[in-house]
Amino acid sequence: MSAKKYIDIPAPNKKQKLFFTDEHKYVAYGGARGGGKSWAVRVNALLLAAKYPGISQLIIRRSYPELYANHIKPFLKLLPKGSYKYNDTKKEIRLPNGSTISFRYCASDKDLLNFQGTECDVMYIDEATQITEEQFRVLSACVRGASDHVPKRCYITCNPGGVGHSWVKRLFVDRQYKSGEKAEEYSFIQAGVRDNKALMESQPDYISQLEALPPKLKEAWLEGSWDVHMGQFFEDFFDRGEHYTDRQYTHVIEPFEIPEGWRIYRSFDWGYNRPFSCGWWAVDFDGVVYRILEMYGCTGTPNEGVRWTPERVFSEIARTEREHRWLRGKRIGGVADPAIWDAETGESIAECAARHGVYFTKGDHARVPGWMQLHYRLSFDENGFPMLYVFKNCKAFIRTLPLLQYDAQRPEDLDSSGEDHIADETRYFLMSRPIKPRTKAEAGRNGGLKLLLDIDSAALPPPSKLQRMEIIDE
Ligand SMILES: Nc1ncnc2c1ncn2[C@@H]1O[C@H](COP(=O)(O)OP(=O)(O)OP(=O)(O)O)[C@@H](O)[C@H]1O
Ligand SMILES: [Mg+2]
Repeated sequence: MSAKKYIDIPAPNKKQKLFFTDEHKYVAYGGARGGGKSWAVRVNALLLAAKYPGISQLIIRRSYPELYANHIKPFLKLLPKGSYKYNDTKKEIRLPNGSTISFRYCASDKDLLNFQGTECDVMYIDEATQITEEQFRVLSACVRGASDHVPKRCYITCNPGGVGHSWVKRLFVDRQYKSGEKAEEYSFIQAGVRDNKALMESQPDYISQLEALPPKLKEAWLEGSWDVHMGQFFEDFFDRGEHYTDRQYTHVIEPFEIPEGWRIYRSFDWGYNRPFSCGWWAVDFDGVVYRILEMYGCTGTPNEGVRWTPERVFSEIARTEREHRWLRGKRIGGVADPAIWDAETGESIAECAARHGVYFTKGDHARVPGWMQLHYRLSFDENGFPMLYVFKNCKAFIRTLPLLQYDAQRPEDLDSSGEDHIADETRYFLMSRPIKPRTKAEAGRNGGLKLLLDIDSAALPPPSKLQRMEIIDE
């Protein structure tokens, strides 16, 4: 006797319903984060599996851990025991009517080789803006097969930003077609974060988390806008230039004497064949941090000129801390890249520092949370005051921060091929004293930010050649 098994599927939202009923060959569901796209992929796969016995469907993401966390695990939770078989070697769910749902990853051109000879009726590429147009074409060519009683379709889900932003936008949003592409085959459903009632109820602070993002990322992920061109990562950093003496709506300020009682810290990143960076910070009684001094230089290869050995770097740091009037006699807490404790040959960088009386604790190197800390601190409160200031003499910070770009693959991270040692060292420091996002309700940033976007903050010097050693005095 066979027992009937039922799968309880919560009600879809309006956009998800559109997704389920769309019969175009290429269907894109994209826009805001958290709109319910991945959920719609899973439910659509079940609906088609039930409707077309024997249908073979393939769900693709960039990595297996992502596939497992975002699809395989939720599927196995949703399906009642005994209603399916899961083959972990083949990464395939088989349902009693012969329908299959398989999971494959593709992060690079090399992974495409694994798709040679692969055939499926329906394909889902989740997070398609993370792959290139060529990869999309090769993958979608796997949608073929003899069974003409089942649909042949390719669904994609996506968020703006990422290496595939332009081709997704061209085909689905702008609807610009090249010869050989048929406009009538493409359809687009714009996802909005507020479409997802389930998420709004289970995580009421989700919107305020997205609202705390810097403007471009916020526009892309909260509003689902396809018109943002990523670029400058710290677009929320403002240098109001020479003549601005107030502390409102600016991060760069004139140096001042450090009041008695403020704590002093040092953050450090070693440059293996790249510049090292050391920053000194003062923290006031409200927890606002001030970058007061910095030492930034080159440890480059010998043929680049004078090479700064660890010995020289730390004797300079020790000397500065002995002699500079802002640092002299202070207890200075240090935080550094944990990699400086790795001893490749003989003494580690951290041990060399310790010999000079320069001590550090290991920084938390979680990149994205670290960048978020910097974003949170750069945001202005309702009166235009940030939680981080930079003294005008810290020229390397002021020069390099605006140059850093979004990573094409991971828009929440920055492109680490840029000159990022100062940002890294700042991140280690900020992670040692994290703050919460300053949400709109608390800080009323709206008016402030709108005003600021009109201000020309681009009056910065062009990226000059790396200097061997840059500004350590006020
Ligand atoms: N109709 C629904 N009923 C119940 N829960 C839902 C529904 N749609 C989505 N969810 C839940 O909302 C959360 C976010 O949905 P999902 O992960 O599908 O969003 P997403 O658009 O893929 O997000 P991201 O852009 O971050 O990839 C998940 O926990 C998901 O299970
Ligand atoms: Mg998703």
